[in-house]
Amino acid sequence: MDKFSVLIVEDNLLVSTTVQDILTDEGYRVECAETGKSAQKILSKNEFNIVILDMMLPDIDGRSLLTKWHKAYPNIVIIIMTAYGDVSTAVDCLKSGAYDFLTKPVDKTFLLKTLSNCIDHLNLSKKVNVLTQLTKRETDTVVMGEIIGKSPILNKTIDMAKLIAQSDFSCLFIKGESGTGKGLFAKTIHKMGKRSGKPFVELNCSALPANLIESELFGHKRGAFTDAKEDKIGLLELAHTGTLFLDEIGDMDVTLQVKLLKAIEEQIFRKIGGTVDVTVDISIIAATNQNVEKLVADGKFRADLYYRLNVVPIEIPPLRDRIEDIPSLSDHYVNVFSRKFGKNIEGFTKTAKEAISNYSWPGNVREFRNVVERGCILSKNSLIGNDELLFPDIIGQESNNSDINDNLPAMPLAKAENLIIKAAMTKAKGNKNKAARILGVHRTTLYKKLEEYSISVTDFI
Ligand SMILES: Nc1ncnc2c1ncn2[C@@H]1O[C@H](COP(=O)(O)OP(=O)(O)OP(=O)(O)O)[C@@H](O)[C@H]1O
Ligand SMILES: [Mg+2]
Repeated sequence: MDKFSVLIVEDNLLVSTTVQDILTDEGYRVECAETGKSAQKILSKNEFNIVILDMMLPDIDGRSLLTKWHKAYPNIVIIIMTAYGDVSTAVDCLKSGAYDFLTKPVDKTFLLKTLSNCIDHLNLSKKVNVLTQLTKRETDTVVMGEIIGKSPILNKTIDMAKLIAQSDFSCLFIKGESGTGKGLFAKTIHKMGKRSGKPFVELNCSALPANLIESELFGHKRGAFTDAKEDKIGLLELAHTGTLFLDEIGDMDVTLQVKLLKAIEEQIFRKIGGTVDVTVDISIIAATNQNVEKLVADGKFRADLYYRLNVVPIEIPPLRDRIEDIPSLSDHYVNVFSRKFGKNIEGFTKTAKEAISNYSWPGNVREFRNVVERGCILSKNSLIGNDELLFPDIIGQESNNSDINDNLPAMPLAKAENLIIKAAMTKAKGNKNKAARILGVHRTTLYKKLEEYSISVTDFI
């Protein structure tokens, strides 16, 4: 492990050498300064991860140093040291950017725990910075053009998205059936907006039980509940300065909705078990494929949260209402998957094109993309034919007017089974029970098959 470096700014030598000895023994690289002036000199020449700052220095007030350094050195974590019982100073300092505080005389266990929290925080900030850099690099090339389609109805939605992206909106509600591109729109609006380059943090509200969602969102203090072994930073805090994307918000527990609404409106919240307010600056994008108005009428979604989110609503139309988009989506995905699988596929045969445009695409663009992917895998020549439109729904729809037995492609049964299971898992977004229902088998049968073909659920979530 790289050594973390600590600068102790403290005029009481007994205190500074005690802290220095403890930290040096633990493998930290430590330097000490007795005055604000000498500390400033050291900081200007060397890099430090952590500064432990006394509030009562002989030449300057520790608080003004805290404010100055917090701005000048955003990557340094500052811990302040106060006299025992001086809680109001400590709270003021936390508000001015201090990460934590220690009281004198310094307790060894407490000191080491505080430093270990700092290191977790530093490691996490590093990760967030890397993610931010990645997002920034993507931003340089991103255009709304990533959203494929030329239909008037989609163009209208794209124009609306552009307008929203240009404003520093506080809430945006994206509605639309599953697979219409809500997630894609959310990311694109973030990338095109004023918060591009800042964190884009995503939470799927249907994926976890309510208590876990709460601690994911708000974070918790150690000991706040039985499983809270460590302090945890919540997604609201991680999304600070950027965007929090709450997917499938229709599934969020009603009591949690109240807490979320308060956090959105005030941009202030407390960690579970926490005593200090955390202030954030975030935009919220929420999405759902459910009929929220009905959920509100049924008392399953709070009207006040709905009205707050619905200030700027945007509805992505289903693919069946914009079949004009199919040719450009088809060109795009044929190109993507043909290259991916090293093939030279140009498109669909005439009959396959007909089948595609007659189909209702209940899974929307996601289903379309998967069909093209499978078609590209199965196709033996430059055009994808009806034979390769091998997926449960199309087989179901087509069985009325064509003979599937004649159309089945020649391939080992195991390969076909593997492909169909993957198709069902894609459609069910990794939900094994749902996939088993689509396939018409008992879920234990599906579990066995997933194991047999080494298919990992996480690939589909
Ligand atoms: N207009 C589009 N152009 C290109 N790709 C698209 C378009 N719309 C959706 N997609 C692709 O389709 C897939 C599904 O989109 P996405 O996950 O955004 O849908 P969603 O509405 O969030 O679905 P769900 O409600 O199931 O979460 C993604 O791979 C996405 O990139
Ligand atoms: Mg989605």
